[in-house]
Formats: sequence, C-alpha cells, structure tokens
Amino acid sequence: MTADDALFRQSMRLLASGVTIVASVHEGRRSGLTATAVCSLALSPPRILASINMQGHTYGIVEQSRCMSINLLAENQQVLADHFASKRAAEDSDRFINGNWITRATGAPILADALAALDCRVTNIIPLDTHAILIGEVDDIVFGPQAAPLIHFQGAYTSILAAHTEKSS
Ligand SMILES: Cc1cc2nc3c(=O)[nH]c(=O)nc-3n(C[C@H](O)[C@H](O)[C@H](O)COP(=O)(O)O)c2cc1C
Repeated sequence: MTADDALFRQSMRLLASGVTIVASVHEGRRSGLTATAVCSLALSPPRILASINMQGHTYGIVEQSRCMSINLLAENQQVLADHFASKRAAEDSDRFINGNWITRATGAPILADALAALDCRVTNIIPLDTHAILIGEVDDIVFGPQAAPLIHFQGAYTSILAAHTEKSS
C-alpha cells in the first residue's frame, strides 16, 4: 500500500527547494524546463541528478543529445522560472528569449547570469514510471553574480531573505 497522492503532494510542498533550469540542445533545437527535483550526487567524479518527466519536450531532447546544463536561479530570476515552466510556445527557442545564454563544453545552453551553471554529459538515464533520473557528469561550471537563491516552498517562490525577515519580526 502507498500513501495517498494528496498527502504526498501536501508533504512535498513543505520541502523547500532551490529552483533550476535544466536545458539541452539537439541538432540546433534548444529546450529547457524549470526543475526543483535536482541534487548533488557525488563529488569525485562530480555528478548531479535531475528527475524529469518523460512526457515533456525537454526529456526527449536530453535523451537524444546526452547533455544538459543545470542552472541555479537567483531570487531575481523568477520570470525565467515562470517562463520555463509555462506551456510550451510555438518555437522551442522562445523560452530562451530572456537571459544571457552561452555554450561551453557540451554545447548545452548555459545561463551565464545564473548563480552557477553546471555543464554536464548525461552518463545514465534511469526511467521509472512517469519520470527519469538523469545523471550528469559535470564537465564545466560557470559562476554568475553572487545573489540570494530563488526558493520554491508551499507552491510559491520565495527567498531566503524573506524567510529570515519573517523569523526575526
Ligand atoms: C517550481 C517548479 C518546479 C518544477 N520541477 C520539475 C521537476 O523537477 N521535474 C520536471 O519534470 N518538471 C518540473 N516542473 C514542471 C516543468 O517545469 C513544466 O512541466 C515544463 O513546462 C516542462 O517543459 P518541457 O515540456 O519542455 O519538458 C516544475 C515546475 C515548477 C513551476
């Protein structure tokens, strides 16, 4: 027996997460999505994982390209988070209109003004029901301006600074 879906959802809303954009490119077609199911996996070699819905567009691109960037968003980048989670526009690249996107080692789009952007080769894809765990070996890292991170908590975006302010008031 498994826990009720609604209760599981309710509990996960209490898990505060940093917000990222996972992005990739295949044959010139860029794709990316907002993702919070991302975590560090190992230090040596440096590996990171992301859990991505296999029904989505970006999964198909990563599956073919075997590369991805994981871009850690700053609190002032909520517009990007909204954009990369929104219903896909007609053109794949429309999600990349905002932000300073560059390429480095793997060719995946890198958000140069993210807190940090990790450029990864995807070494393993582990499908499980609706989602796949993508494991990336980190080839390169770009650091953007220092800032507070964008946080997702209880279904809304917030910042660490907001949490501090509420605690101290
Ligand atoms: C705060 C937030 C976190 C999200 N985290 C994930 C995630 O970890 N994995 C995932 O597959 N989708 C996640 N999503 C949903 C995708 O961003 C959204 O469905 C997107 O439109 C999928 O794009 P795609 O079709 O290019 O894959 C999240 C959405 C939001 C707003």
